Amino acid sequence: MPVLSPADAVALLHWYREAGVDVLVEDTPQDSFLLSERHAAERAAPSRSSPASSPVSGLAGGPRAGAPSRREPVPGRSAPARAAGAPAVPPLPGSGADPLADVCRSARELAGAARTLPDLQAALDSFSACPLRRTATNTVFGVGNPQSGIMIVGEAPGADEDRQGIPFVGVSGKLLDAMLASIGLDRSSAYISNVIPWRPPGNRRPTADEIALCLPFLSRHLDLVRPRLVLALGGLAAQTLLSRTEGITRLRGRWGDLAVQGESAGTPVLATFHPAYLLRTPEHKRLAWRDLLEFRARMRHLEAPGP
Ligand code: URA
Repeated sequence: MPVLSPADAVALLHWYREAGVDVLVEDTPQDSFLLSERHAAERAAPSRSSPASSPVSGLAGGPRAGAPSRREPVPGRSAPARAAGAPAVPPLPGSGADPLADVCRSARELAGAARTLPDLQAALDSFSACPLRRTATNTVFGVGNPQSGIMIVGEAPGADEDRQGIPFVGVSGKLLDAMLASIGLDRSSAYISNVIPWRPPGNRRPTADEIALCLPFLSRHLDLVRPRLVLALGGLAAQTLLSRTEGITRLRGRWGDLAVQGESAGTPVLATFHPAYLLRTPEHKRLAWRDLLEFRARMRHLEAPGP
């Protein structure tokens, strides 16, 4: 192996960083985007377990999976790269015929046993069966006022959130704060969390299995917070919370019912664009503003004294 001069080593590290390599996970490089794609394809294949037998009904496989429409990229995430010769997806640590079902069962048990938000945070933190837990620096749980009745759900933490362990503290968090301020909300009058509590390496899209593993914790999180209204940010959050497959462009701006298991099922959910997407596509801020006004109108309706 050639020995690099210190200057060349620094230049190489800069080059890696520019290319998006910001976390070292294994000794040899893996194409995580390709793994996500292969995983999605495997779960969509007829030989895999059917959606009806899926441990998390409507999410971990089949047409109602949390994966985005293939026609529409998920705002806030890079497009997957395509390459030949994909490496095998690391197996989940379950022991039965369907390891995902085993691990989802233990996730449901662990999440279901949590009686408070700190309990749930501790349970998540201990859940090393999810591969994302092993590569993340911190479990990014929630921030804000869980008694506010308003819950904002994003997709997954980025590098800043992973470092600090707090949702939406990076550049998209700044835009989110401005969006919330525009309808009179802030972190004392709303509660903020994510579908996925751990940063996917390189900000890749989480696989359908990873989403399925995190869903019991998200359902319990929603049950413990019991929001009266939910704002879903971006395609992944909208698809997961509403159990729909359409892209965010179709889902945004319309109210739907929260479609996760648990007592909070049926809570009104409004989807809008993810702030990271709006940073890249400012012409869509106009539509996001309409969504926010719609959200504010429903908030006011809730606040209004009854007849
Ligand atoms: N994007 C998200 O979806 N969530 C965060 O916490 C940060 C960025």
